[in-house]
Amino acid sequence: MKGLILSGGKGTRLRPLTYTSAKQLVPVANKPVLFFGIESIVAAGITEIGIVVGETKDEIRAAVGDGSDFGARVTYIEQDQPRGLAHAVLIAEDFIGDDSFVMYLGDNLIAGGITGLVEEFRELGPNAEILLAHVPNPQQFGVAEVTEDGRVKRLVEKPKEPESDLALVGVYMFDHHIFDSVKRIEPSARGELEITDAIQDLIDRGLTVHPHVVKGWWKDTGKLEDMLEANRIVLDTLDNGHGVEIPEGSRVEGRVSLGQGVELIDSLVRGPVVIGAGTRLDHAFVGPYTSIGKRCVLERCELENSIVLNDCEIRDIPLRIDGSLIGRGARIVKTDFKPKAYRFMLGDNSEVGIT
Ligand code: DAU
Repeated sequence: MKGLILSGGKGTRLRPLTYTSAKQLVPVANKPVLFFGIESIVAAGITEIGIVVGETKDEIRAAVGDGSDFGARVTYIEQDQPRGLAHAVLIAEDFIGDDSFVMYLGDNLIAGGITGLVEEFRELGPNAEILLAHVPNPQQFGVAEVTEDGRVKRLVEKPKEPESDLALVGVYMFDHHIFDSVKRIEPSARGELEITDAIQDLIDRGLTVHPHVVKGWWKDTGKLEDMLEANRIVLDTLDNGHGVEIPEGSRVEGRVSLGQGVELIDSLVRGPVVIGAGTRLDHAFVGPYTSIGKRCVLERCELENSIVLNDCEIRDIPLRIDGSLIGRGARIVKTDFKPKAYRFMLGDNSEVGIT
């Protein structure tokens, strides 16, 4: 079996971060979302992995390389435009050949990985296996209608009036029949070749599509709130113990991971928290569910439930920062300019909330 990870697309809902960075590389607990996917495919015993890349291909290549760091062999498959998930399958045909494969959306995170699912697919031997989860907002996903005896009847991509609350999770398993289906379908109203339509085509041709309802958590990290939630969930699995001597005047409580050379000066870190190498905290409080990247400087400020990327500077902020996603190299500092005023230089589509 092979793996196919989809890591193209535009990531419009995470702008402005995704103007300069691939959405699949935004970190959760200081690890790019995409790496969780690669690791879970390798953990399932699949080491031949194709990664579909688009305009952020150079960045994805730089981060993943040839896959050897993950114990995998990675082949990059270039997609000229985000023409849909089924289009990504179509252009991967040469790479997949006659094998079965697991397709993993590069911005999805699934509790407990996919090993059990891959085993189930191998044992049952359907033509496809789809993962489903009950969600409160099915309009934002592909939605499945399943009969009482557990057969998939119909799949619709982001329906206005969903017939069920069962959303398609971003992991699918297919045998070679999917290639005929992706060639048979037409682009949808939004101009994409939809994988939901291709799977519907499998059903219409009388092939077996096995539904598996996911019990644990699952996140599509396409939006800020989902990123923060995924960050909380992953941080909750942190091990105890940071193995670093804490200097006098500072305190570390709960599960905290400190990278090499993290400097603490009169600061309090209350886990679960990860802090990347070379970051300095000076009279700072970092509260639960926060991930801070490498080489950041936090002085006289308080943060919690947030994700801060590498090389940020946050100084002298009177109110606690909460529920925030702060991009690489961002500076949030108090200034002494006159007149007393807020002073912003924000990227396109940035968002600032002021109390
Ligand atoms: O997250 C689950 C949902 O994922 C499913 O419920 C939907 O049925 C499915 O269509 C998909 O919806 P999204 O709107 O979330 O898909 P998105 O455009 O975010 O793309 C998912 C991943 O695939 C993302 O990592 C980008 C990549 N991609 C996307 C397209 C459209 C590609 O590599 N190529 C593409 O052409």
